[in-house]
Amino acid sequence: MSPTSTLTLIAQSTTMCELLEQVDTAALTDSSVLLIGETGVGKELFAEYIHKKSNRDELPFVKVGLASLPAELLESELFGHEKGAYTGAAGEKKGLFELAEQGSIFLDDIDDFPLHLQSKLLRVLESRELMRVGGTVPIPVNVRVICASKIDLKELVDKNQFRSDLYYRINVVPIHIPPLRSRREDIPLLIRHFLQRFIADRTVEVTGEAMQLLQSYDWPGNIRELRNVVQRMAIFANGSITPKNLPSEIHSSSSLDSILKACNRCLVEEKMGFEEIVNCLEKNLVNQALLKSAGNKSQAAKLLDLSLSTFRDKLKKFGIEE
Ligand SMILES: Nc1ncnc2c1ncn2[C@@H]1O[C@H](COP(=O)(O)OP(=O)(O)OP(=O)(O)O)[C@@H](O)[C@H]1O
Ligand SMILES: [Mg+2]
Repeated sequence: MSPTSTLTLIAQSTTMCELLEQVDTAALTDSSVLLIGETGVGKELFAEYIHKKSNRDELPFVKVGLASLPAELLESELFGHEKGAYTGAAGEKKGLFELAEQGSIFLDDIDDFPLHLQSKLLRVLESRELMRVGGTVPIPVNVRVICASKIDLKELVDKNQFRSDLYYRINVVPIHIPPLRSRREDIPLLIRHFLQRFIADRTVEVTGEAMQLLQSYDWPGNIRELRNVVQRMAIFANGSITPKNLPSEIHSSSSLDSILKACNRCLVEEKMGFEEIVNCLEKNLVNQALLKSAGNKSQAAKLLDLSLSTFRDKLKKFGIEE
């Protein structure tokens, strides 16, 4: 990364450290990369990181938000147009591919790329030449392509909504960025990072209880949501951040509501059976009670309103060390 870069990518969990190793290796090649992940997981940040780590880092990095570009403008935005190519095309115009020459282009929300233009994009990627709208002379292009998608493009291919040849062309190196809830070890470091960014002039501590709530929340909006929450907390925090400084959705994460959500996720996403979910819930309750009572079984049993013998039976059932 260039010394002037302000780009910081926090990765503490094993999952993320391993992923970064892959990304570092891929960055140095010229292969197309497809970043896949839920909203807010860091796809755009990864795209910038890959560009900065590549040999093209001093050259342009052009971002294209495909979800926000009207389809009728897309062709001339990407590939440019010649003078008089259509009504209103008073002069010639370079497209974003030409502007990214020698550098990288980031095609964000590639799943929104209109089907009727996909063959043109494929031709550009394969032939390394483009034709401006209304043009007759092919223009050579040397651009590294990085794409991002929130959904699995293969599903669109199977539904004939995305060309399979284009899919294979952009999916040379697929990078799945995991949601924050499956790498909770990253949460404390991310919080510290954003706190430092938003309140550089004073130190604010997060109490253990508040951190526990922040770490057990599911973060549906991933790191973007976490950043916004930290920004909000930073405004009101006075020396330390306690549970009462946290937004209500994070408080309720220890309530029945979040337990039901977690069970539902096991059912729908993990395809677990009813018995398995109930067992998992029971085991978690037992473990949590033990944790809260520092391993004291009588106290743990009391917390769950169980008799000591029933509690012991549960420990045996789940093979939890006495
Ligand atoms: N590992 C990380 N370390 C530090 N900041 C991060 C990390 N991942 C994401 N961020 C920050 O979180 C915010 C959201 O990231 P980004 O915009 O890259 O997500 P995205 O996957 O592109 O989201 P969307 O799909 O909604 O466009 C940004 O401010 C980004 O800088
Ligand atoms: Mg994005």
